[in-house]
Amino acid sequence: MPVKFYKPEHQVPLEMHKVRVVQKLSLLPVEERLKRIQEAGNNTFLLQNKDIYMDMLTDSGVNGMSDEQVASMSIADDSYAGSETFNRVKAAIKEVFGTENVLPAHQGRAAENILAEAYVKPGMVTLMNFHFTTAKAHITRVGGEVVELVDKKGLIPQTDDPFKGNFDLKALRKALKEYGPEKVAFVRVEAGTNLIGGQPVSLENMLAVTDICHEFGVRSVLDASLLQDNVYFMKTREPRCKFMTTKEIYHTLADRFDIIYFSARKLGFSRGGIITAHDRKFTDEMMEFVPLYEGFLTYGGMEVRSMEAMAVGLYESLDMEYISQGPEFIAYLVKELDDYGVPVIKPAGGLGAHLNCSEIIPNIPHEQYPAAAVGAALYIAGGIRGMERGTVSEQREPDGTERFAELELQRLAMPRRVFTLSQVKYCADRVKWLWDNRELIGGLRWTYEPKVLRFFFGRMEEIGYWQEDLVKKFRQDFGDSL
Ligand code: F0G
Repeated sequence: MPVKFYKPEHQVPLEMHKVRVVQKLSLLPVEERLKRIQEAGNNTFLLQNKDIYMDMLTDSGVNGMSDEQVASMSIADDSYAGSETFNRVKAAIKEVFGTENVLPAHQGRAAENILAEAYVKPGMVTLMNFHFTTAKAHITRVGGEVVELVDKKGLIPQTDDPFKGNFDLKALRKALKEYGPEKVAFVRVEAGTNLIGGQPVSLENMLAVTDICHEFGVRSVLDASLLQDNVYFMKTREPRCKFMTTKEIYHTLADRFDIIYFSARKLGFSRGGIITAHDRKFTDEMMEFVPLYEGFLTYGGMEVRSMEAMAVGLYESLDMEYISQGPEFIAYLVKELDDYGVPVIKPAGGLGAHLNCSEIIPNIPHEQYPAAAVGAALYIAGGIRGMERGTVSEQREPDGTERFAELELQRLAMPRRVFTLSQVKYCADRVKWLWDNRELIGGLRWTYEPKVLRFFFGRMEEIGYWQEDLVKKFRQDFGDSL
């Protein structure tokens, strides 16, 4: 639990680690930042890292490694087949989840591809609390459909509900009855959620979901990519978890879900992806796709040094002093923003802070991509790179019509063990400046729109000259400061 400060007003999250290796950052002048974001087609994915001060694009593959992770990389056993490194990964998974059967994949979306190939046939549906971009793209690519059944409160930007990622259990039963179990490829729980603000799912809700799956004879799948944040929230927000160890929570989940997969770029502070199950039947059903798409069964497209770091990172995912750092820094940022009056998703979740752009610039309609516009504006304002999690991150309907996102979010991810609190304060300060100057922010339009996962490489331009006006205002307010 957080270390208490003598004066309550001094209370801040306290790191239980120290920094031993540092990396130089640069903050370009605001005029340069304007040029860079326009060259990048107003897409933060297309910025160069050297031009960024705070990279809050993601927490995927960019978390700070521990000394033990770095040390473990030197004993990596580089062999095509039967590597000792894979045995160490398996041992870590056995410790954390209690499962014996493990398939490697090069990252989380590769696991999603394998799941889709193995179980989704044209015309089938997958039921989930909420989709993730790559999960949905793989399911729809093989002719399946995604049906989202998150509890309605999950889509209300500000509530005090502690588990806004929960499944609507009534809706799940209804959907299973209506579609019939044979039409449902699997039920997928994403815990925590990604696209709706890193909101967690309660243990009680997940157990109820798996009960319903057993009752209907339908496969249950847990996307555990963001599980370490979720476990932190279970321990701090759910009374029944308070006295469980983190390991007991991971094991309880693994005992109930048929299949667990995760991105080790998130869970495990490393790189790579894993599928695991208690019952060999499931890994046997998916196994053939590993050598086909990934690599041999003992590396699956992963690099052995990353696998060693993953094994150590998985053990660290049991340690509350490590896994509390993300959620506590995020809660700090969310509170600062909220105190400034900036509309943010509440309560604070995992992954990062999420700006509610429909409220920041309510006059900019979905068609002009408000969340992307706020992202471009924030890079101009502070050299801070966030990620659009709104309509640009959706995919168009099969008939080509635009699908408006439920929430127009700009996500400011908090890579674990990377930023200091003064950097987090700087970020809050620049967002506050943008909030005070929000009437200057305008919309964007496509200049190049790719068909698949368009948010990665799509390019946009400003409508009018609002970005130049923002730079002028910055100079007025900040003088010659960077
Ligand atoms: N599932 C969830 C919940 C995720 O957040 C991600 C990745 C994936 C699956 C796919 O894993 O990247 O290893 O292929 N999320 C990253 C993000 C991309 O920035 O939120 P991957």
